[in-house]
Amino acid sequence: PQNVGIHALEFYFPSQYVSQSELEAHDQASSGKYTIGLGQLNMAFVTDREDVHSICLTAVHSLLEKYSIDPLSIGRIEVGTETIVDKSKSVKSELMRIFAAVGNTNVEGVDCTNACYGGTASLFNSVAWVESSAWDGRFALCVAGDIAVYAEGNARPTGGCGAVAMLIGPDAPVVLESANRFSHMEHTYDFYKPNLSSEYPTVDGKMSLGCYLRALDHCYRGFREKCAKSGDDTATSLEKFAYACFHSPFNKQVQKSVGRLLYNDFLRSPHDKQWDDMPEDLRNVPEEESYTHRDIEQYFSKKAVPYYKRIVQPSVLLSQQLGNTYTASLYSALVSLITNVDPADLRGKRVVLFSYGSGLCSSMFSVRFRDSEDAVGKVTDMRIRLDIASRLAARHKVDPVEYNGILKSKELKYGKPNTAPSGPTDTLFPGTYYLTSIDDMWRRSYERK
Ligand code: ACO
Repeated sequence: PQNVGIHALEFYFPSQYVSQSELEAHDQASSGKYTIGLGQLNMAFVTDREDVHSICLTAVHSLLEKYSIDPLSIGRIEVGTETIVDKSKSVKSELMRIFAAVGNTNVEGVDCTNACYGGTASLFNSVAWVESSAWDGRFALCVAGDIAVYAEGNARPTGGCGAVAMLIGPDAPVVLESANRFSHMEHTYDFYKPNLSSEYPTVDGKMSLGCYLRALDHCYRGFREKCAKSGDDTATSLEKFAYACFHSPFNKQVQKSVGRLLYNDFLRSPHDKQWDDMPEDLRNVPEEESYTHRDIEQYFSKKAVPYYKRIVQPSVLLSQQLGNTYTASLYSALVSLITNVDPADLRGKRVVLFSYGSGLCSSMFSVRFRDSEDAVGKVTDMRIRLDIASRLAARHKVDPVEYNGILKSKELKYGKPNTAPSGPTDTLFPGTYYLTSIDDMWRRSYERK
């Protein structure tokens, strides 16, 4: 099979959000800290009516419906998530509710877990299956969804919620290019979830941001080199990129990432004339110090602004509106790109993607929008069916006091059997799966609105 990639995609986000400027005021943070300092606008969240199973069920069911996909045509499902519910049982098995109901139980695949990287692992696995001798001619479904919530404190505004579902098969309009991809993996304790009695992670925030940038350095250098070796000139330096999508814990980190790519371009060609305005004392800062060197960061971030605007800004819509959707975050960027850029302008373009999951796993890879009239039509169709703008506009805002109250009540119920969710169902979007009960054996039941 050739040109394996994305045929259809759907992105689910909850119907309620909290405003970052209101949260900022409520938390008595300095004005602008969350909105400018973190670069976030709103944060999506769920009540106890929704969990990781329900958001993934909603995304998958909606994908099947919107694109009239026969559930019998799916031969593999891979789920990326780090939202832990039944531990040994995968979210994938919950999705089998939909497929077993129509007699399709011959569906390979389970969950992939490593912080925000699971979605990328499941995408790579889905594509690898279609390209393998085990492929039986059916589509794969790649799903990634998370509920990101933090304990009260400075990490709380970096939460979020969302789930993506992608239909993977050959001859796709958006092709995953595997040849140039480059990964960086190492062991770190920057963000993890060792306390199984809590929904919240254990996080060393500053360390995680440094790990992210270090991983980006490794991936970009490897990716750039592979592109150059293969004679592909479209991704050998930042200025050659058409578009780039990043995992977004919050927008400021993405802005800094673009600066960091430029810094890497500088290290490779320090005598290039674009650095003529660089202060002399910055030229010799050792690389290890560069991560925390304020002047280095500011020089490259400032220089990166036009690149950010052209290459990255079209893909940050959803992450600014939803917050960190963990495994779905990078794919929310792809969805935003499809939403914001005219499909005719995406025609034939290569998009570079950077995936980061704490702990840590990271990859840089690319997708290519096929250069054909047919592909433009299919991408236009995706854009219409995704319908992001009107769905964002249909959400309702919840004030920070109520938001914190909802998180508090979820804390008290977390991990307990025999509980009945109390969140409202009337405000859920049509088609949303919601939890109706958790019985005395922790078995969860759902209905669909
Ligand atoms: N106006 C404008 N900017 C402001 C203001 C203001 N009033 N106040 C602060 N800022 C800026 C700061 O200067 C800083 O920007 P800088 O990084 O460019 O200096 C930014 O806002 C954030 O302020 P900090 O004081 O650094 O924020 P704090 O330490 O309170 O928390 C953090 C930030 C560490 C990111 C925290 O939210 C966190 O731990 N989040 C979870 C971890 C995370 O998301 N890691 C990312 C990778 S791993 C993953 O995806 C989960």
